[in-house]
Amino acid sequence: IKLRGMSSATEPIGTPPAEEPDIHTTAGKLADLYRRYDEAVHAGSERAVERQHSKGKKTARERIDMLLDPGSFVELDELARHRSTNFGQDRNRPYGDGVVTGYGTVDGRPVCVFSQDVTVFGGSLGEVYGEKIVKVMDLALKTGRPIIGINEGGGARIQEGVVSLGLYAEIFRRNTHASGVVPQISLIMGTNAGGHVYSPALTDFIVMVDKTSHMFITGPEVVKTVTGEEVTFEELGGARTHNTKSGNAHYLASDEEDAIAYVKDLLSYLPSNNLSDPPVFDSTEPAGISIAEGVTETDLELNTLIPDSPNQPYDMHEVITRVLDDGEFLEVQELFAPNVLVGYGRVDGHAVGVVANQPTQFAGCLDIDASEKAARFVRTCDAFNIPVLTFVDVPGFLPGTDQEWNGIIRHGAKLIYAYAEATVPLVTVITRKAYGGAYDVMGSKHLGADINLAWPTAQVAVMGAQGAANIVHRRTLAKAAEEGKDVEALRAQLIQEYEDALLNPYEAAERGYVDSVIVPAHTRGHITRALAMLRDKRETLPPKKHGNIPL
Ligand code: HXC
Repeated sequence: IKLRGMSSATEPIGTPPAEEPDIHTTAGKLADLYRRYDEAVHAGSERAVERQHSKGKKTARERIDMLLDPGSFVELDELARHRSTNFGQDRNRPYGDGVVTGYGTVDGRPVCVFSQDVTVFGGSLGEVYGEKIVKVMDLALKTGRPIIGINEGGGARIQEGVVSLGLYAEIFRRNTHASGVVPQISLIMGTNAGGHVYSPALTDFIVMVDKTSHMFITGPEVVKTVTGEEVTFEELGGARTHNTKSGNAHYLASDEEDAIAYVKDLLSYLPSNNLSDPPVFDSTEPAGISIAEGVTETDLELNTLIPDSPNQPYDMHEVITRVLDDGEFLEVQELFAPNVLVGYGRVDGHAVGVVANQPTQFAGCLDIDASEKAARFVRTCDAFNIPVLTFVDVPGFLPGTDQEWNGIIRHGAKLIYAYAEATVPLVTVITRKAYGGAYDVMGSKHLGADINLAWPTAQVAVMGAQGAANIVHRRTLAKAAEEGKDVEALRAQLIQEYEDALLNPYEAAERGYVDSVIVPAHTRGHITRALAMLRDKRETLPPKKHGNIPL
């Protein structure tokens, strides 16, 4: 059954009449409606559509069809059009006003969607365009459905002046109110300037397309006029720039199909809203009746993963993929701050968010970018009832003037804040180093983690052996030097003593700071059981208006 509007964004319902219909008859009225539908679907000129295709981009309607389940789209306001008379605008009043809005399903789950049409007024946002987005956002918020925005356009519609600015702010307010209530996902396709980038910035995830999508507050021409800098579109605000440098984007898609596929994957880990849980999938992982019983060949490989030398790195993905169902890890912000890994997976069919230090990058040190990346991810999980699984191998915060002067204190504090306020199940596994402040920060028991596990290779201490021996035994070493003794041999001996005494998980285990020291091959079993036990966890924080996270 086709409802009002269209069930495909690109195919109008009914065939438009070849001639002007007689609207004084019922058949004519119906034919007139078909004609209007057809006009709405073909609002952009054929030439503009061809231009879009020649750049490797899809139209606004084609993008909706790629995203939604076939035939599920129901359009809203397809017959809305602007009322502006400025600059002769009243001579051009296309149906839809440059944005397609509505609802449909992704993998059978309802979502709300808007898709901006750059072939109409350059995709710029005028009053009616803004009102349409506001309406579909309100619908998403009151029905508890994710909202997916497909963005492409030149910012505020210049001809409509302050009304455009007003509507932008109406959208920003709704983005903010929807934050943490329904998932908001932004696809950046094509060029987005001015106001077109701030709404995506307020959403949970931004997906960009390599080479064909750009975001900036002001374009290269304005940059040149104001600062004298010469910069290309691509360098200034290309998908790679925002995925590697600014951290504004969460995924670099190879093309528009890849971008849409990522969004669908992402949705499969998210609940429809903060009052519901993410979808549960059947798990094919061997469970076993005891932790040791379901151990697989790949689980056993974890027993030999950690190198004997603490300075030798290993890839934390090896741990993550061995723990998650089918080894599937949907990484988020993969190209930004690669010293910390964040992303989604499933354990026993249930969604989890993973945060992990990556020893192959800066030895896994935390810096400003890594702290912000992980903090935002933990908060996203907490808002949407997704347990957080943390893997720790961190030698500390990255030292240096660059970090200190750019505010590592403030930015590092965000990660502490994020873990400490999270009330979803928190499970932490220390694989190797957990030194100093970074031990505290990375999902420690003291910040509120529920189950903390450590491998026998874990080193929970204030700092590494070299630094510790040099500080604790400074006088002894100085005295040995004065006496002409072999200082290096003594230093090596003192380092060894420190390592043997403190660089292990057992001091922490004695105090219950870790609940168990586990066989690495049993990690999956332990995590599965911990998460199952924690599934109905309920914890509330003191009532308040809102916290004051250090921004
Ligand atoms: C009205 C616009 C428009 C706009 C583009 N067009 N931007 N019309 N208002 N903001 C129209 C163009 O006139 C043109 O119409 C068509 O869209 C395509 O634009 P081109 O410039 O030919 O396209 P391209 O070369 O791809 O360049 C895209 C662009 C550029 C980089 C986005 O158009 C641009 O710089 N536009 C202005 C961006 C801007 O400064 N916006 C206002 C920001 S202030 P024809 O009829 O010739 O095809 C803002 C405030 C929000 O947004 C507040 C947020 C806090």
